[in-house]
Amino acid sequence: MTKRFPDGFLWGGAVAANQVEGAYQEGGKGLSTSDLQPKGIFGARVERSDDDFGIKDTAIDFYNRFPEDIKLFAEMGFTVLRTSIAWTRIFPQGDEAEPNEAGLAYYDCLFDEMAKYNITPLVTLSHYEMPYGLIKKYGGWGNRITIDCFERYARAVFTRFQHKVKLWLTFNEINMSLHAPFTGVGLAEESDQQAIYQAIHHQLVASGRAVKACHEIVKDGKIGNMLLGALLYPLSCRPADVLETLQQNREWLFFGDVQVRGAYPAYMKRFFADRNISIEITEADKRDLQNTVDYISFSYYMTGCVTTNEEENQKARGNILSMVPNPHLPSSDWGWQIDPEGLRILLNVLYDRYQKPLFIVENGLGAKDVVEADGQINDDYRIQYLNDHLVQVREAIEDGVEVLGYTCWGPIDLVSASKAEFSKRYGFIYVDRDDAGNGTLARSRKKSFFWYQDVIRSHGAAL
Ligand code: BG6
Repeated sequence: MTKRFPDGFLWGGAVAANQVEGAYQEGGKGLSTSDLQPKGIFGARVERSDDDFGIKDTAIDFYNRFPEDIKLFAEMGFTVLRTSIAWTRIFPQGDEAEPNEAGLAYYDCLFDEMAKYNITPLVTLSHYEMPYGLIKKYGGWGNRITIDCFERYARAVFTRFQHKVKLWLTFNEINMSLHAPFTGVGLAEESDQQAIYQAIHHQLVASGRAVKACHEIVKDGKIGNMLLGALLYPLSCRPADVLETLQQNREWLFFGDVQVRGAYPAYMKRFFADRNISIEITEADKRDLQNTVDYISFSYYMTGCVTTNEEENQKARGNILSMVPNPHLPSSDWGWQIDPEGLRILLNVLYDRYQKPLFIVENGLGAKDVVEADGQINDDYRIQYLNDHLVQVREAIEDGVEVLGYTCWGPIDLVSASKAEFSKRYGFIYVDRDDAGNGTLARSRKKSFFWYQDVIRSHGAAL
């Protein structure tokens, strides 16, 4: 087996606007759902006043410091950087007729900076931060009007950045709406399944419209979806457990099935009927859904188990999901189970199902780092985690899976999504900041920085 990854494989990292940029009111930016969640996706939602402290308001000040950060990414050898555009920088309330020039100009500078180092931008249109204006006025994705607003936004950024950005993604972890409806589709957490699935339907239609617009506007552009790769194993080989696992895996694969195949899968008919859910799907919606994605991207952090046995059904929460722990796997300090082989399995499952190129756009270990007296940060645990996962990516490529690239999550420390912690660090680059917002924001290279540099330089042979 060759140790090198294929030529053209994209190596890099992934961030999201709301977790790095800060500057939450600069350049005419409007309030987003993320701004209303200063304690993260699982924290209380607040009506903002300027006196409230939110760690994301400054985050790592990427808004101002991106030239320094991109230079560091280039030093590691990145050929790709995944980031998102904050929708509220472009359409502050979400329903304006024209885009906000200051927001567009900011991203022009960002993409120009990447181009200096030949770093390919991979851009997510919506990463956990829709305009709050659309929620207040229309009820978020519960209202069809939001589809048109999103399409206007997508067309505006495709048009402006068509020569600078060729790789796009629609909605980050689109299946997360099932677990965090406010973050995903702008609905109250206690919304019923009828409302959530109708809002999801609107988002899937919007995704189809964005695919169409991208193909019309961006010459040689490619646009993918983004799934939270929540692979579940049966806890036992009891047929009932295997069946339940099949059904629970379909709950997230459903999104991929629609976005890749262009129509609702047959199994959803029964799923909806059993739950008395009735979705309004127009003929025009069906046509929009037929605009299928060019590639599939996903995040991968962990796997979990499923059981039908009540006593065994003690779920632990990791990120946005609650899953039954696997007795054969270790866990991170945040209880996320570490399963490198699961990544190989997932890559194979997705490729068997769709036969479309795959892109791993998030993977990583959130951990507490210690700065030694001499300033060094010896994050061997992170190196081990990433190394083990990348070895499995290489195995999957050998299995025949087409993998376009790998962007690990948070190549520079950033604010975590679930609880807005700063102490949960993912980066190769350390940022001097703590949970209370103290620190100089200075950047420094961790041990893993040099490890990743070697991996990229050797096309994976150093793993
Ligand atoms: C993914 C998200 O769910 O997981 C990221 O797309 C997020 O935005 C990442 O940061 C890790 O989760 P957390 O809660 O550790 O930041």
